[in-house]
Amino acid sequence: MTRHIVVTSALPYANGPIHIGHLVEYLQTDIWVRFQKLCGNTCYYFCADDTHGTPVMLRAREEGIEPEVLIERMRHEHLRDFSGFEIAFDNYYSTHSEENRRFSEMIYQRAVERGVVTQGQVEQAYCETDRMWLPDRYIKGTCPRCGATGQYGDSCDACGAHYRPTELVDPVCALCGGTPVRRTSRHYFFRLQAFEKELRELMERGYVQDTVRNKLDEWFNAGLRDWDISRDGPYFGFRIPGEQDKYFYVWLDAPIGYMASCKNYCDRHGLDFDAVWNGPDWELYHFIGKDIMYFHALFWPALLISAGLKTADKLFVHGFLTVNGQKMSKSKGTFITAETYLRHLDPEYLRYYYACKLSAGADDIDLSLEDFQQRVNADLVGKFANLASRSGPMLTRKLDGRLGTLDEAGRALVETLRAEKEAIIADYEGLNYASAIRRIVALADAANRYVDQAEPWVTVKTDAETTRRTLTAVINAVHLLTIYLKPVLPGFAAKIERFLGVEPLSMADVDRTLEDRPIGTFERLAERMDKEKVDAMIEESKPRDEAARSEPAGPAEPIAPECSFDDFMKVDLRVARIARAEKVDGADKLLALELDLGGLTKHVFAGIAQAYSPEQLVGRHVVCVANLAPRKMRFGTSEGMILAAGEGGQDIFLLGLDEGAAPGQRIH
Ligand code: 2FM
Ligand code: ZN
Repeated sequence: MTRHIVVTSALPYANGPIHIGHLVEYLQTDIWVRFQKLCGNTCYYFCADDTHGTPVMLRAREEGIEPEVLIERMRHEHLRDFSGFEIAFDNYYSTHSEENRRFSEMIYQRAVERGVVTQGQVEQAYCETDRMWLPDRYIKGTCPRCGATGQYGDSCDACGAHYRPTELVDPVCALCGGTPVRRTSRHYFFRLQAFEKELRELMERGYVQDTVRNKLDEWFNAGLRDWDISRDGPYFGFRIPGEQDKYFYVWLDAPIGYMASCKNYCDRHGLDFDAVWNGPDWELYHFIGKDIMYFHALFWPALLISAGLKTADKLFVHGFLTVNGQKMSKSKGTFITAETYLRHLDPEYLRYYYACKLSAGADDIDLSLEDFQQRVNADLVGKFANLASRSGPMLTRKLDGRLGTLDEAGRALVETLRAEKEAIIADYEGLNYASAIRRIVALADAANRYVDQAEPWVTVKTDAETTRRTLTAVINAVHLLTIYLKPVLPGFAAKIERFLGVEPLSMADVDRTLEDRPIGTFERLAERMDKEKVDAMIEESKPRDEAARSEPAGPAEPIAPECSFDDFMKVDLRVARIARAEKVDGADKLLALELDLGGLTKHVFAGIAQAYSPEQLVGRHVVCVANLAPRKMRFGTSEGMILAAGEGGQDIFLLGLDEGAAPGQRIH
């Protein structure tokens, strides 16, 4: 029986480019959708750009264009990148659409009618200069817990504390540098708590993988809190019905964008939207990253339940991408956009590699660049492409391009490959792509061994028909491997389909044997992956001055008010020798340093623990701001500051001096 399935991936924000981190999800989803189609199921893949919110509004303002113009451009860029990676949406729409407005209003209205929307006063930071309410990421200040400066309004990068923006010490507006005021405003809230029972039942029915269930239990145990679904203008979004200057919060209408994309597709293809989206015959799955689980496991199903609509059958939650074992980093050149990747490398390489790494859990996956190259060259080129190139050209050049029949050994090989079909299907279905690939590689190994033993390059000189039988078996192995790999490598599969002269392959073709028929001209299938190309891609991803300036890196840090030369001269910089360095319990990013300033000792907390280990520091000569007023922090008092530069995290570089510099010496 064929299944009817709707699948979505999270909607990418319209304020930045698609990068290889995003691609984990879109490739994971695309492979699953292609697999369902390969099995003969009806499966639609819907997505859209997530267009609303403050960052889009501000970026458009910065570029001097209307947000509508910006989001249209971004949508085209995103689509260009997705199609470059052969990600085949059935519809790629926009949350800034009439369908989405109507659904958002409908779902809101139904929640109001059910009595689960309340109003309340919210105190928030407001910038009188910019005349706007400041979201958490647009306020900077000093962490109320550890005293680190330059922290965002929601959490501290130095000690990891989470807090309300109103708790930030000395807050400034990240746009203009002015001091925001606190103001209260009336907001709308969705009473999540009212759906606790239904949400718990949803989890019991297996809405999320077991591996992420714990996180949800934690949230349930902490108590479900009301959700603020409104934002005051100026805001780029949908105005709340009956309000002049209040808008739906972007996260209210974003998931509704899944529905809008589906509706738009159904209308254009004469399908009954209510049946497809809400009917019992259709399955619905959302693929998401673990960072947006709260929205998809709690808010979104609660909104649907409140509106009397069906919830998804399951969320498929994946982890994050690391590159060479570390977070993607702009300065290391591992923050690679889809566009840059495609300028240097074949998309099928990444599709293959991610498939090798993906399994059903929400664990992070690592793109180790060396392993990437090694796997692609060993398997994709050395095993799959090689098998075809060891058989195709010989058949066309020396044996009139015709297949013969299988002999017993050939049939045995083909049966070995066929026998894995159900296991491979189960792996794909269960998102265990890594396991599917392991099986397919093992089958390719068996087929290559068969060629090695039969030595067609020897037999072809004396016995054409034996050679034809051998190569017929190899071509049948290529045919089967191609079917199995097709969800992962659609471009590779298309070339083989042309070469074999067959219609687009499907899982049903596994039972078909290719005998006594002509084959087409062999095309090169995959090139080896060059290290030079990987290096060039990394190099291009490193920030250049120009590129860094035009990057959409959120709100630009404003230049602080002018500081006079005399003011600057008040800063007393001294050579300091690090006498001791220790980790600070409860603050992952801080180190406690004891500095020797030539007889004078100072204790300083520095946010450099991710860049340096204590052992690396002891004995080093650094530059210390010696006359900084002591600052009380949660872990003790910090009596100075040492100079360093960098983006933060692992990318912090201490300004060092050689050991000849005498501790305590003043630096002018
Ligand atoms: O986290 C994000 O990138 C969001 N733009 C995802 C939205 S998914 C859905 F709810 F729209
Ligand atoms: Zn401001």
